[in-house]
Amino acid sequence: MDVIRATREFVETIHADDSSGHDMAHVERVVRLVERLMDGESVDRAVLLLSAYLHDVEDHKLGRPKGLVTQHLASLDLTEAQASLVRAVIDEVSFSKGTSPTTRESEILQDADRLDAIGAIGIARTFQYAGSRGTPLDRSETSAIQHFQDKLLKLASKMHTAKARQLAMSRHVFMQHFLNRFHEEWDGKDT
Ligand code: ADP
Ligand code: NI
Repeated sequence: MDVIRATREFVETIHADDSSGHDMAHVERVVRLVERLMDGESVDRAVLLLSAYLHDVEDHKLGRPKGLVTQHLASLDLTEAQASLVRAVIDEVSFSKGTSPTTRESEILQDADRLDAIGAIGIARTFQYAGSRGTPLDRSETSAIQHFQDKLLKLASKMHTAKARQLAMSRHVFMQHFLNRFHEEWDGKDT
């Protein structure tokens, strides 16, 4: 079995019961985005695709143990260098860690993961995440609506590739329209 297929099957078991916005569909969308973004880039395509499949396996918010990725990588027919590049790329994608990507592979995966957090899909995932945490639908400091200001509206200006910047701009504008409308309706100012 090839490494990509084995990895997809492994990741499917990991994300099977997720309802916090990290389901397999998120992973598959990130993989598709990576495929669009890596066109014409000089990157190790297998490393990048494996990293995309594995990028949320050890997400700390989901409480899964460290070591799952390393264990899976050891079961694949990869060179030592490829396996450690996959590890490094995954470690660099997280927004909260605040680290800047040091390879083109990391930049592309970070762009793809961030694109899936904005636009129409980003809006849907935000409320799904909030629902999964039992967060009330209001405009308080800890609300999903506040999450747009805290994080999502900052992402479009942080893209690394030109293609992602272009996609992000249009997704960003769509979120702004949504937020304007949300507040208009909440305040009784819609017409
Ligand atoms: P990923 O690891 O895929 O980049 P995150 O783990 O940061 O994504 O979050 C998963 C989804 O949940 C994203 O769409 C994100 O915007 C959303 N999310 C994260 N934190 C919050 C929050 N405090 N309120 C609402 N949505 C959130
Ligand atoms: Ni993700």
